[in-house]
Amino acid sequence: MTDHQPTPDGVLRLINGYWATGVVGAAAAHSLFTHLENGAGTVAELAERAEIAEAGAQTLLDGLLGVGLVELHEGRYRNTPEASLYLVDGKPTSLSSFARLKLKHMGGLTALPDVVRAGGPIQHATTEVADNPHWEEIVPAIAAQSVPAAQVAAQALGLAEAGPVSILDVGGGSGVYSAIWLAANPAARSTQLDWEPINVIARRLVAEQGVGDRFTTVAGDFHTTDFGTGEYDIALYSHIAHQEAPEDNIAVLSRLREALKPGGALVVCDYVVEDDRSGPAFPLIFAAEMLLKSKQGGTWRRSDYHNWLVKAGFTTVSFHSAPPATLVIAR
Ligand SMILES: C[S@@+](CC[C@H](N)C(=O)[O-])C[C@H]1O[C@@H](n2cnc3c(N)ncnc32)[C@H](O)[C@@H]1O
Repeated sequence: MTDHQPTPDGVLRLINGYWATGVVGAAAAHSLFTHLENGAGTVAELAERAEIAEAGAQTLLDGLLGVGLVELHEGRYRNTPEASLYLVDGKPTSLSSFARLKLKHMGGLTALPDVVRAGGPIQHATTEVADNPHWEEIVPAIAAQSVPAAQVAAQALGLAEAGPVSILDVGGGSGVYSAIWLAANPAARSTQLDWEPINVIARRLVAEQGVGDRFTTVAGDFHTTDFGTGEYDIALYSHIAHQEAPEDNIAVLSRLREALKPGGALVVCDYVVEDDRSGPAFPLIFAAEMLLKSKQGGTWRRSDYHNWLVKAGFTTVSFHSAPPATLVIAR
């Protein structure tokens, strides 16, 4: 082989990518990152605290070292700063329940060859089904991912200094935006529209943040539930556009324009791709998830969002980076 010939390492890492999903998901399932954070550092200590076999603990620690989520110093393991921030149970930024959930979703990808032939879900469409129990599992697990976007949006809107604003969050899920925005602005009030089983989860999570007295919920389908007219200062449509067809997005965005007071702001958050579909990597790869799970959704381009918002009656549209998502703010 010459120096210039590629090695198979990168391709093998991708083919075996599910090994990483398995090791991280299993380690999260046994709270290994939490036990490491709390001072367990040897295979024996971790096996005892996690109540797993020593052979299992050693295997997970080998795998975690391999994927770069733990460090090894003189026979003791510890979390990397990344694992400490994002995989320890109970931290607001924790993705550990998401890691456990993705382990369960892994098998669904075996349908992808047939799904791409058909151009959409072949068995269980997820996003179009009313009151789908899928959301009850996914919504608490994805909440932490919206924390950075909620903070960037709060900053961009000057929310903390905005006074007694009223907020409408369509498909609010865990209520994570409301929790962060109501904490940032003690005079703000927020209403979430979602399916009732999800609203139950949101009311509990928002109350846990001490701002539940300014949070109300409305149960229903956002395609048909009335949003009102001229009622809100801020409306939010986060990680919904990717499950909807373009014409449905235009319809909802138009009704959100009507629901806003004059000068009110709409915040859209989603995985947005460049107009020539050349990047960014995360939204490009996320497209496979949408083809598996949604009949009409997709990862839409910046120009799609811009055009829909103009059609919906907004006159100014700006894009803000909140990796791996993009925030679109329209007035
Ligand atoms: C991907 S989650 C997004 C949650 C939250 N907005 C965020 O960004 O973290 C999608 C949410 O939309 C809700 N949803 C999906 N379709 C809906 C519909 N037709 N009517 C009401 N809510 C819906 C789901 O229950 C779920 O809570």
